[in-house]
Amino acid sequence: MSWGLENRLSRIIQKDGKTLMFAVDHGYFLGAIKGLEQPKDMLRKLAPYADALMLTRGLLTNCVSSDYKKPIILRADGGPSIGAAKEKIHSLADHEVMITLEDALKLNASAVAISIFVGTEYETQTMKNLSKMVSEAEKYGMPVLAVTAVGLSLDNLKEDPKYLGLACRMAAEHGAHIVKTYYCTNGFEEVTGGCPVPVVMAGGKKVDDEIKALQQAYNAISKGAIGVDMGRNIFQSNNSLKMIKALKKIIHKGIAPEEAYWKIPEGPYTRLDKK
Ligand code: 5RP
Repeated sequence: MSWGLENRLSRIIQKDGKTLMFAVDHGYFLGAIKGLEQPKDMLRKLAPYADALMLTRGLLTNCVSSDYKKPIILRADGGPSIGAAKEKIHSLADHEVMITLEDALKLNASAVAISIFVGTEYETQTMKNLSKMVSEAEKYGMPVLAVTAVGLSLDNLKEDPKYLGLACRMAAEHGAHIVKTYYCTNGFEEVTGGCPVPVVMAGGKKVDDEIKALQQAYNAISKGAIGVDMGRNIFQSNNSLKMIKALKKIIHKGIAPEEAYWKIPEGPYTRLDKK
């Protein structure tokens, strides 16, 4: 591993081996979903608490101050929209690479992110996206985060450790430096155990109770994940700031969810809707 690649990874993965990535890239196929309608203000308040910020180049250049100090994980692929996928006009899995390594370097990215859609007709295409990006990225010491199992067509497989394990392992075998996948209640340790590179947990759809989302992060870490790359359960929460602060305690201090969440005092910025 080159010095540059190790250095970039060390900016994302903290000294304790853990990381809290804040994912706000959803607009690249979902548009302005709840919580991301006015991303600038939300990012100004929440992004400082993350270890790394995952987003698209458009959101980065328009909504994040250029003096932002945390590492950026840049979404590097995309194409289809949720609209076309819902109408069954176009598969959401039909991703192509959308940015070059030069774009990522120019934006001072610390990693690039590529989705793979194992088990769909686009698995070979998206594996090629990943593999080609790894070859290009390694020339410049840029880590690649592979995103697995995220996408509407895969809903029935999200709780299947065999599927998640296969997808994570394939991502690592094709050269990903970090893999992001969903948590599954049974067998998540097989998913992380079978993956030779670090695994981070994606949060998934907003759940009704903050503690449930935090518990999932806690469980994922206790079963081998090095942290989370979470979005909606943070920015769609009525207590976003409290959520991200609690996640930090869970990930870096191993504090149990209830304690991590409830021991954070209510302050003027605890709820994002209060100025
Ligand atoms: C979308 C993504 C998201 O970043 C990922 O799903 C994490 O966000 P969430 O916690 O909302 O699921 O990769 O393709």
